[in-house]
Amino acid sequence: MISSPSEPRLAKKDLEIAVDGFVNKPPSIDMVYDGLKTAPEQICKVNSWLNERGAIYFKPIGAVTCGGFGLAKAIKHTNQIELCAPSLELHDLCRELELKEGEPFLEFTDSLHAVQKIVDAYKNCRYLPATVQAGLRIPLYEGCAWEIRNIFFMGEGLQWLGSYVKVGDDEHFATVEQGGHRELPQKVLEATMGGIAQWYEVEQLAIAASCANPVYSLLRERCDRDIHTRLFSIDLAPDEDVPSLVEVQYGPSYEGAVDAFNHFDAEALDRTRDAFQWVAERDPTRFELR
Ligand SMILES: Nc1ncnc2c1ncn2[C@@H]1O[C@H](COP(=O)(O)OP(=O)(O)OP(=O)(O)O)[C@@H](O)[C@H]1O
Ligand SMILES: [Mg+2]
Repeated sequence: MISSPSEPRLAKKDLEIAVDGFVNKPPSIDMVYDGLKTAPEQICKVNSWLNERGAIYFKPIGAVTCGGFGLAKAIKHTNQIELCAPSLELHDLCRELELKEGEPFLEFTDSLHAVQKIVDAYKNCRYLPATVQAGLRIPLYEGCAWEIRNIFFMGEGLQWLGSYVKVGDDEHFATVEQGGHRELPQKVLEATMGGIAQWYEVEQLAIAASCANPVYSLLRERCDRDIHTRLFSIDLAPDEDVPSLVEVQYGPSYEGAVDAFNHFDAEALDRTRDAFQWVAERDPTRFELR
């Protein structure tokens, strides 16, 4: 996709702030590289999330990224913390922690000390603003992580195009770019949420729709001319049955939506095609309809 250098890039953080109060979010702490050790009270908090939820996630919060770039996860075992990352960053993180390649397990006797080491190592290997987030407790679907992607479009007004489930290819990350696939929400919800599947589907869409309004206002104000920002997504997943925010971003994959809707939602596919036809008619130089 094309983005215009003349317009300000909105960070994921700006979009996340815009949806404050509209959706449940996992607790998080923002980190900026300053060459200093992370404050002990912050380390205590991160340690308590690891103990309560079993996992924490590290994510960049600068310009909107996608495809799991810069993402990492730490999982707590009895005397070990395991590190996972879909991209090469794991290699840097392991090196920073002086761990052997292919064995990303940090042994510890003092859990707080280990958490301090990991948080600071992540900061050191990225040197960029990032956030550390408590893990959502999402029940696995066929052994894999998943989330519902709700796609919205800014045409004359705000429009919901459709929703589908992104299923990752492992238990850690629901990132389709790394080899996952897309599914019908009802199918995944029935398998993972049992009797509350239908309630959850309706509820999560209502929440996504209420988040879409402030995101729409922000995007209109800041990057109205950028075709890239006409499509945005609100990704939600359950945290103990509460629909919770995984990510809000603009410019999610158009091809991904077409691929998903092509398989199971003809109406959503029509809406998606119409939306992009609308753009193409107004500005054929900036978007090529496939
Ligand atoms: N707090 C969390 N709890 C549980 N899982 C999480 C959490 N944060 C992220 N994940 C998992 O990691 C995946 C990637 O995170 P996120 O969507 O924020 O990153 P991304 O770089 O934008 O990736 P992509 O653009 O491919 O979605 C999510 O799809 C989700 O499966
Ligand atoms: Mg994502």
